[in-house]
Amino acid sequence: MKIDILTLFPESFAPFRESIISRAQKAGTIEINITNIRDFSRDKHKKCDDAPFGGGAGMLMSVQPIYDAVKSVLTKNSKVIFPTPAGKVYTSKIAQNLAKQEHLIFICGHYEGIDERLIQLFDAEELSIGDYVLTGGEIPAMVIVDSLLRFVPGVLSEGSLSEESFSNGLLEYPQYTRPQVFEGLAVPEVLVSGNHAEIAKWRKQASIEKTKKNRPDLLKGGEHED
Ligand SMILES: C[S@@+](CC[C@H](N)C(=O)[O-])C[C@H]1O[C@@H](n2cnc3c(N)ncnc32)[C@H](O)[C@@H]1O
Repeated sequence: MKIDILTLFPESFAPFRESIISRAQKAGTIEINITNIRDFSRDKHKKCDDAPFGGGAGMLMSVQPIYDAVKSVLTKNSKVIFPTPAGKVYTSKIAQNLAKQEHLIFICGHYEGIDERLIQLFDAEELSIGDYVLTGGEIPAMVIVDSLLRFVPGVLSEGSLSEESFSNGLLEYPQYTRPQVFEGLAVPEVLVSGNHAEIAKWRKQASIEKTKKNRPDLLKGGEHED
């Protein structure tokens, strides 16, 4: 899979030079290119913002540099994503679908955002990472890219995804590691029993309890009610 990220702040993407995502790039499983939108500005001062028609607070990103930056990487197999608080709320399901794409292009907004015609022209999918407003699209693009790459075959080791939160409509069960007693708190007995059937039963129930407590909305369908 190939990912192009268009941004005014390429240095923000330093986290992609670390850990699992860095290894996946080195192994050739994924390719991530970061492009500075400012390099495409035809303004003699490389200006990349402009006042919105109709007035109002703040500036918008200029249309031309973004348009040319997208055109420079666009192919017939590209899908353009615009992270925005005005988008559809991003979920694990959307991540799984995006992971099947051949080429994704992310436009990182800044200031008050981008000209609506860019969304129309590139048929961009508008995705929000939650009901709050960040200063720019760099962190949202990182959130989306990081989470979808986990579904690209070869990025994670086999089996890592099967019991993760959301994989079966539930949050993950509580996990423990050594020591068996820490600060007076003991690991649930069943987890050290060696009885795999009992462990699986405990985990399913603990998953349901955690989901009930933290995300009761996920249980709405009733499928996991005990
Ligand atoms: C200050 S925000 C602009 C907010 C915009 N004027 C609005 O009210 O919807 C600047 C940029 O940050 C990004 N952004 C901010 N919050 C976001 C969120 N919750 N999800 C995805 N992108 C977000 C978008 O790219 C946006 O264009």
